[in-house]
Amino acid sequence: MTADIENARNYRGRIKNSLSAAESYTRRKQRKHDAEMALIRRALKYAGNAGTILDAPCGTGRATILLARLGYEVTGVDLGDAAVTVARRKVSEAGVSANIERADIEALPYAENAFDATLCFRLYHHFPDDWVRKRVIRALCRVSGSYVVISYFSPFSPTSIRRKLRAKLGNKPSRQVATSLTSMRKLFDEQGFHLVKNIAQRRFLNTLHVAVFKADG
Ligand SMILES: C[S@@+](CC[C@H](N)C(=O)[O-])C[C@H]1O[C@@H](n2cnc3c(N)ncnc32)[C@H](O)[C@@H]1O
Repeated sequence: MTADIENARNYRGRIKNSLSAAESYTRRKQRKHDAEMALIRRALKYAGNAGTILDAPCGTGRATILLARLGYEVTGVDLGDAAVTVARRKVSEAGVSANIERADIEALPYAENAFDATLCFRLYHHFPDDWVRKRVIRALCRVSGSYVVISYFSPFSPTSIRRKLRAKLGNKPSRQVATSLTSMRKLFDEQGFHLVKNIAQRRFLNTLHVAVFKADG
């Protein structure tokens, strides 16, 4: 792999390989966690009657548990060893059934259309460029028979505008990358998926948005 490609994949520094990093993610502010889970529930209403779903990345399993409780047959994957360990424990403590595996979202080890839907929550904004975004979207669409539910950071929220201004003023650029819905639609379009719905807690205020894409035809 060339140095350029390796640099483009620096988001991998975010992979939860240490137990302390994984455990700290389980201690997110309750209000924020509840709002994020509510956003996923709202988005899933536009994802048909999916039975099987892939939660990629599952982190420490919070959305995996939500999906299992909603009645989905869930598989959660994460590249971080510690995330996988903690997710398995959390799933067992929650008393739900879900399969948790270690896998790279850029090269998902599943057959074409293996799931009715895939969920990719809180990772897209860490991707540094379209090279990685394209690979991930291609992988998600390949294994998803019908729907992909994916979060991204809107560039139009006050927080994103502030981050951009700060970077322009010479401060260290944010490690979180806001991307337009238009650019994401283009990448899904290339895979034969179209936009069904784009939602946010408050559309012009919140940075975190969730888009639902459906396979054409
Ligand atoms: C911010 S967390 C979000 C996890 C989960 N979706 C949630 O909202 O709780 C991002 C996760 O992505 C994982 N990750 C990063 N790069 C990955 C990759 N290439 N393949 C699979 N998982 C990856 C990290 O280990 C981390 O657990």
